[in-house]
Amino acid sequence: MSKLAINGGKPLRDAKTDPWPKWPVWDENEEKGLLEVLRSGVWSYNGPKEVEFNKSFAKFIGTEYAISAANGTVSLQLALEACGVGLGDEVIVPGLTWQATAGAVLDVNAAAVLVDVRRDNWCIDPAEVDQAITPQTKAIIPVHLYGCFADMDAIMAIARKHKLRVIEDCAHKHGGELKGRKAGSIGDVGSFSFQLSKLMTAGEGGALTTSDPELFERLDALRNCGRRPESQESADKGAGLYGSEGDLIQSGNYRITDFQAALLIESLKRLPQQNRIRGENAKYLNSLLAELPGVVPMKNDKTEALGACYNFSFRYNKAKFRDLDVRKFREALGKELACSVEASYEPLNACSLYTPHTKPRRYRLSKKYWHQIDPAAFELPVCHKIFTEESVCFHHTVLMGKKADMDLIAGAIKKIYDNAEELL
Ligand SMILES: Cc1ncc(COP(=O)(O)O)c(C=O)c1O
Repeated sequence: MSKLAINGGKPLRDAKTDPWPKWPVWDENEEKGLLEVLRSGVWSYNGPKEVEFNKSFAKFIGTEYAISAANGTVSLQLALEACGVGLGDEVIVPGLTWQATAGAVLDVNAAAVLVDVRRDNWCIDPAEVDQAITPQTKAIIPVHLYGCFADMDAIMAIARKHKLRVIEDCAHKHGGELKGRKAGSIGDVGSFSFQLSKLMTAGEGGALTTSDPELFERLDALRNCGRRPESQESADKGAGLYGSEGDLIQSGNYRITDFQAALLIESLKRLPQQNRIRGENAKYLNSLLAELPGVVPMKNDKTEALGACYNFSFRYNKAKFRDLDVRKFREALGKELACSVEASYEPLNACSLYTPHTKPRRYRLSKKYWHQIDPAAFELPVCHKIFTEESVCFHHTVLMGKKADMDLIAGAIKKIYDNAEELL
C-alpha cells in the first residue's frame, strides 16, 4: 500500500481541519482606516494617510525619504529615470528574478544585461556583475530574492569603483536587516512592492526609499505627472504642488490612493512582529533541514534576521533522492503538506513573461538595441540549474504558524526521502 499522499496515502496535513495561516492579515484597524478615508472624501492625491505612511516607512527603513507609488514595477522604472538612466545605457540585473526587474529597464529605453546568480543564495553574483561592466553601464539592480540578501558590500564596492547607481529591488525584503542597515537603505534607491502576496500589502502598491534629496525631488515629481512640491512643508500638507517652470519634468501618474495608504500604515505596524515569527520559524526549519539528507538550506549571513522573506526556499539534491525529479518532489511535498510548493522564477533568458521581442514597435529602437535586449543572448547556467533541478519554494505564510508546522515540513521531506522508490 502506498504511503505517500501523492499516491493515495494519508497526507501529513489536512488543510480542511488544519489550515495554514491566512494571508493577508487584517482586523478592525484596517476597517477603521479604510472608513476614515471613505468618509473624508480625500481618496487620493497626497492625502493624509499617504503622507503619514511615507513618513513612517522612511523612518522604519532608515532613509530620509520614502515615496509611495502605484506598484513595485513602476517604482523600479521611476528609480531608473530618477538616476538618469535611458537610451544608450546598460543596467545589470540578475537572471533569476521576477520579469519586472528587467522589464523596467526596457521601459526607460535602456538595455537590461542579465547576469548569473550565486548557487548558494540565488542572488546576483558580484563576480558576474564585475565581468558585465562596460563603458555603457549606468546602474545595477540587485534583488534580495525570496529569503536572501544580495551581497551588498561587494556590489556597493563595484558601484563605487565604476561610479554606478545601485537600485535595490526590495520587493521580497520588507524590513530585512543586515549589519544594522535595512534593505532599501544601502543603495541609492530602494524599490518595494506591496502586491497582495508580499510581506506588506495593500492589494497593489509600491514605494521608493532614498536619502538623496535630489533623487527624492525627481522621484516625487516623476510619480506625480512631473509636478513637484514647492517645499517639504507644502508637500506634507499636500498643497502647493506646482513647481516653477524650468524645474518641470515630463511624467505620468504613478500615485497610490489613500485607501492603499490606510492599509499600508497598518501593514507596517504588523511587520516587525510578523518578521519576528517568520524569522524564528525559518531559523528553526533551516536547522532541521541541515540534518536531513538531500536538501540544503539557503546560505544567509549569520548576522541576518531571517524573517523578511517573501518565500521560504531550500535547495534539493536529486542524487540523494535516487534521481527523483525535483518537480515530482515538489508535487509530493505539496500533497503531504496541503500547500503550494513552487519552483523559483524562470531564468529571464527563457522566461515566458520576459519577451521584449513581442513588442517590436516599442522596443526596436535600433538594430543594435534590438540585439542587445534579446534575452536568449545571455547565458545563465546557474539560474537554469536552480530552476530546473534545485529550487523548492514555499510562500512566507508557512512560516507564520507554530514550531510544530516546521517539524511537519521537515517530516514531509523525510517521508518522501524514505519512500522515494514509490515515485520512481
Ligand atoms: C523581485 C520583484 N521585483 C519587482 C516586482 C514588481 O512588483 P509589482 O507586482 O508590485 O509590480 C515583483 C513582484 O512580484 C518582484 O517579485
